[in-house]
Amino acid sequence: MKQIIGLYPGSFDPITNGHLDIIFRASKIVNTLIIGVAINEKKKHLFDMTERTNLINEQLSINKTKISNTKVIAFNGLLMNFAQNLKANIIIRGLRAVSDFDYEFQMTGMNARLNSEIETVFLMASEKHQFISSRFVKEICMLDGDVKSFIPEEVFYKLKKKLNKN
Ligand code: PNS
Repeated sequence: MKQIIGLYPGSFDPITNGHLDIIFRASKIVNTLIIGVAINEKKKHLFDMTERTNLINEQLSINKTKISNTKVIAFNGLLMNFAQNLKANIIIRGLRAVSDFDYEFQMTGMNARLNSEIETVFLMASEKHQFISSRFVKEICMLDGDVKSFIPEEVFYKLKKKLNKN
């Protein structure tokens, strides 16, 4: 039977419970799931590439009984080139509110023009994770709000430390 390789790309700055939920669900529908951490030097990240990758790997190892077919690889440059090199069959993206749609629709359309063999598949965010975004998690934490329910515990402590909020 054909082996399906799924690629779940993103910035993961940092990984949230919403990302983790997509990882759990995506890993059930593909044979191998690659989490692609975009390096993107032009974008200002709070966590550098190694930190973002380590935070994801830590969660994979904590949850290894649930997700054993998943690995993390950082990538630079075009997503579709990376996907092609990996021989990925599908790109997986999480979809939250309607506001995500425009951006995702455009990106999917452009990516399909670059390589029509690789389909983008969307997983709807679970109800509990509908509104979680790394951007707001960082902002809320910076402003001393409680972000415990949005991110894994280990990420919470790293984020507090990073923002000097101990
Ligand atoms: O989690 P994000 O920040 O929404 O992820 C966006 C990401 C990394 C998937 C997107 O920016 C991307 O694919 N970057 C790689 C560069 C690329 O291929 N750009 C063309 C997109 S049409």
